[in-house]
Amino acid sequence: MADNPFAVPVLTTDRLEIRRLVGDDLAACQELFEAIGWDGSRQDRADRAAWLTWTVASYDTHENLYQPPLGERAVVARDGGRFLGLVGYVPSFEPFARLPSWGGIADAGRTMELGLFWAFHPSAQGQGLATEAAWALIDHAFAAMAVGRIVATTTHDNEASVAVMRRLGMSIDRYDQPHPGLQVVGLKRAG
Ligand SMILES: CC(C)(COP(=O)(O)OP(=O)(O)OC[C@H]1O[C@@H](n2cnc3c(N)ncnc32)[C@H](O)[C@@H]1OP(=O)(O)O)[C@@H](O)C(=O)NCCC(=O)NCCS
Repeated sequence: MADNPFAVPVLTTDRLEIRRLVGDDLAACQELFEAIGWDGSRQDRADRAAWLTWTVASYDTHENLYQPPLGERAVVARDGGRFLGLVGYVPSFEPFARLPSWGGIADAGRTMELGLFWAFHPSAQGQGLATEAAWALIDHAFAAMAVGRIVATTTHDNEASVAVMRRLGMSIDRYDQPHPGLQVVGLKRAG
């Protein structure tokens, strides 16, 4: 469906190709999650296998339903095809209007925003690759999907992720509450 804004095309940058995950990416994904300290147990690996199956199936399902193409994608090197990490669009469902620059309304309820996700293997960090991949998703969201704004969220202690937000030119809000999705929020508007 070439005219569907929610299609999942291969995106390319100077150094990267961002493509759909496939079943054969399981080992690389598990290596990534273990390397960044998110997974370790047998149950974690089973959960990731189920996540990958679901993600691979979701691309066409979302597209066929004209739903936003949520979910992670593989980032591989254009030169040689090495698996480097994951980026993707994620649903961010938080009480954003509590944030200072979103209105500071103390009892605001949750609203849905299009969010960004990024995770790179340590061997692929420190080279600007996460920022480069995130730019591709931002450009695609604004140009192909006509999204008006996009967010990224992380926890107070994730300085590397906040640094990516800054490199992307996002405005940053901090919220002093132990709420994982609202501790640090980056916002970028189209145009
Ligand atoms: C968050 C994460 C993706 C950031 O990765 P990263 O490699 O630091 O981010 P970038 O791609 O923007 O790279 C920036 C680094 O590359 C360096 N760099 C080298 N060449 C560069 C280039 N051409 N352009 C930009 N930066 C470049 C920068 O100086 C910077 O290094 P520094 O932090 O030592 O100053 C990574 O830490 C990660 O995967 N963490 C675990 C997963 C995670 O927490 N994800 C977020 C969940 S909310």
